[in-house]
Amino acid sequence: MQNPYTLTFGKEPIEYIKRIAEERQILEDFLAPNPPQQVYMISGVRGCGKTVFMTDVSQAIGKDKDWIVVDLNPCKSDLMQEAAAYLSSIQGLAQIFQKAKLNFSLFGFGLEVSDTAPIADIQVALERMIENLAQHHKKILFTIDEVTASPQIKSFTFAVQQMLRKNAPVFLLMTGLYQNISNLQNEKNLTFLYRAPKIILPPLNIGAMADNYRQNIKLMADDAREMAKLTKGYPFAFQVVGYFLWKDPGNFTKVISQSRQYLEEQSYEKIWSELSAKDRELAGAIAQCPGGSIREIKEMLHIEQNELNPYRKRLIRKGIADGSMRGYLTFSLPFFTDFVLDNI
Ligand SMILES: Nc1ncnc2c1ncn2[C@@H]1O[C@H](COP(=O)(O)OP(=O)(O)O)[C@@H](O)[C@H]1O
Ligand SMILES: [Mg+2]
Repeated sequence: MQNPYTLTFGKEPIEYIKRIAEERQILEDFLAPNPPQQVYMISGVRGCGKTVFMTDVSQAIGKDKDWIVVDLNPCKSDLMQEAAAYLSSIQGLAQIFQKAKLNFSLFGFGLEVSDTAPIADIQVALERMIENLAQHHKKILFTIDEVTASPQIKSFTFAVQQMLRKNAPVFLLMTGLYQNISNLQNEKNLTFLYRAPKIILPPLNIGAMADNYRQNIKLMADDAREMAKLTKGYPFAFQVVGYFLWKDPGNFTKVISQSRQYLEEQSYEKIWSELSAKDRELAGAIAQCPGGSIREIKEMLHIEQNELNPYRKRLIRKGIADGSMRGYLTFSLPFFTDFVLDNI
């Protein structure tokens, strides 16, 4: 039988622990008759499940025939063009645009209407499409995975902001690393993003992970719980540990060592390379203070609380550190202490 756990990023895994609360929060807001929110940003460290979560939510929404989900590729040079081209390629929508005599002949969408003047501006074209779809009670969800503050994304989100002001039924889901989302939010003309709710994906439920290992790998309940705890709820680790457990269910030492190496090579090296010198300094101190007492960390770095605070907050927001216990700062990623000790 094939290993049900995956070592690949971004792919909808077979063994999936549902994020019930977060999914419900978005669905309730988006599906409400008068949606209180039309934009959500999903953030968290590499490997925390942003892509998988957004796919899950957008698939749930797309099941409703009144919703049109448009997945945009953030690397494309013009996202409005991509969105408009996609909408005009959908069976049924093209007829709506043609009946409305929208002339898109200048954009090459293959929709030809000859007796009206062609629309020259891509944003106008997209807005007219959406206005017409709204008349047919359609709602449009745009998703963008891994945003950065690139000119393409800025101009697309600016267009969405303008459509929202006109009460258009457009919705936006974006994922991104903390620093990228924060750069985008700090754009002066994208004020709506500042107010938009951000979901920082929390660790997966340990009990659900333990049940999963127990059922799939036939581990004893205690062993399954221990292995689940080892992952600290980090979704990528859940898959990696599961994958090696499936292959070697009787050799925990080997499973742990293989998992650790795989996590380091596929995730932590990249995470580390994206940290600033200050972030690394603090990470180094956390790694060297077993237990993670803030008092000891400050002593080691020779700094006061007010100097520590901004760095502490940044590591927490990036999803690398956990500060939920007062007076302590620990890593939220499994085996990260050893990795940091090896790298400082
Ligand atoms: N809810 C989940 N349950 C189980 N595994 C998950 C879950 N979310 C993500 N994963 C696994 O974690 C890995 C990273 O997920 P991904 O969505 O690519 O993370 P990100 O986009 O945040 O970098 C994937 O291989 C995926 O299989
Ligand atoms: Mg991703």
